[in-house]
Amino acid sequence: MDFPIFHIDFIGNRMLIAVDAILHVIINHALAVGALPIIALLEYIGIRNKDKRWDALAFRLLKIIFIVTTTVGALTGVGIWFSASLINPAAIGSLIRVFFWGWFVEWLVFVSEVSLIMAYFLTWESTRDKPEAKLKHWRLGLFLAAFSWITMAIIVAILGFMMDTGNWQTERTLLAGLFNPMYFPQLGFRTTLAMVMGGMSMICLTYLYTRRELAFRSAVLEVLSKWTGAWLLALAIAAIWYYQVIPGHMLANIPVAVTTQEYVSWNSQLKWLLIFGLAFVGWVAWASFKRPGQVHGAKYALSLVVLVLMLGQFERVREFIRKPFIIGNYMYANGLRVDDYPLLKRDGILQHATYAGIREITADNQVSAGREVFEQTCSRCHTVNGINSIRGQLKNMYGDKRWQADIIAAYVENMHGARYFMPPFPGNKTELQALSVYLASLQKRAAAFNGAQINGIPAPDFISAATHYGNIPDLDTHQGEQH
Ligand code: HEC
Repeated sequence: MDFPIFHIDFIGNRMLIAVDAILHVIINHALAVGALPIIALLEYIGIRNKDKRWDALAFRLLKIIFIVTTTVGALTGVGIWFSASLINPAAIGSLIRVFFWGWFVEWLVFVSEVSLIMAYFLTWESTRDKPEAKLKHWRLGLFLAAFSWITMAIIVAILGFMMDTGNWQTERTLLAGLFNPMYFPQLGFRTTLAMVMGGMSMICLTYLYTRRELAFRSAVLEVLSKWTGAWLLALAIAAIWYYQVIPGHMLANIPVAVTTQEYVSWNSQLKWLLIFGLAFVGWVAWASFKRPGQVHGAKYALSLVVLVLMLGQFERVREFIRKPFIIGNYMYANGLRVDDYPLLKRDGILQHATYAGIREITADNQVSAGREVFEQTCSRCHTVNGINSIRGQLKNMYGDKRWQADIIAAYVENMHGARYFMPPFPGNKTELQALSVYLASLQKRAAAFNGAQINGIPAPDFISAATHYGNIPDLDTHQGEQH
């Protein structure tokens, strides 16, 4: 409401973040947090056994990790912050207020992590044959593994906070935000999952890289499958722990979250897929431990695919069950604070939206005003013509009959009751009417719907922004995020 509305109608704002973030998480978990400890482990075994083959393999694996994490990994990581701050600046703003020092430390740790991986990779060959330097080099690897875990540990605090703010609602301190109820269980879950994914991906690469050294392959696979199997057990425990702390109302959302939207209708079988998938990964790890070197490479590859799909689905469900909030009980996914709702319902959202072009709705500007209301209240989740398009949703509901504004209005007024993941409509009655007239008009008109990046940014109306921040004593429930 305080920012221009960025919008990409073709892919939709949710999907834009999802594609970038899930790719990032896969790389981060499988190739950074989960794989770097393995590289240090293999390097150590090479030093201890004075066997150059371990060292050579570790270096080859690290090369892949180095290339992927410093290119796609780092870019998609920064991409999350770019896309999230364009799409929901209010939410990122609130999170920065709470986690200011967390962010500060995060950037330091991130820069250290990148410097460490550069140093670790680039000094590998020059220290290879110097025992003392080699030991120092190995320690560098341990530091690198620790730093890449710490980056994740900070971000997980923010993710947990967005689901359940815990005591922060009353205490409003950084520590209360950091140590939210979901923090440790989610950290445990992600750490163990990363170790399993790292193990599986290194197993797959080892398989590829040792085609001509079968005895050596068996030796490495034995170590890696023990490692992965042990973490898999820990993952099962962490998953149960995590599940226990998810608040009841979110658990109740899971069945809806996994069956909503046609393209994932197969997800109703999700529970079984999860159980079979994990059992398969467990079986592969076990077989590999019992008969190292004799498990077919395709089984490892399939295990990795199972883990990647599970991780993607996990992120999707996690985001879905948190809805309608973007920050639990504090801010809705449309970027509006729960506390601001009474004010917005009274005055209307357009009165307080800094960059809205229309403030007074008349009979003549109803459709354009409705478009602005849509932009402010629905466009974070819906496109007009693209993914999760409002035209598609309305067509599903009303088909080819004439879409009627008053019927749509009656639905929108109660949409949060019909679909838990949608926030209540925030505006006043005139705006609801205008929105519904606009939505009904879309049946005939597939008008292009662009965000501020294409339409241009209207001059901000700071007077209305000032009213937003005070002057209305009876409704002013504002409190700063952190005192
Ligand atoms: C937090 C995200 C979010 C916001 C904000 C949101 N929606 Fe939705 N809405 C969804 C999702 C996701 C679906 C699709 C569910 C599915 O396909 O099963 C949906 C479905 C719908 C449907 C079809 C409902 C049905 O029962 O089939 C309508 C109509 C709709 N939205 C209208 C709106 C309007 C109007 C607004 C703004 C006032 C809005 N939504 C705001 C996420 C949102």
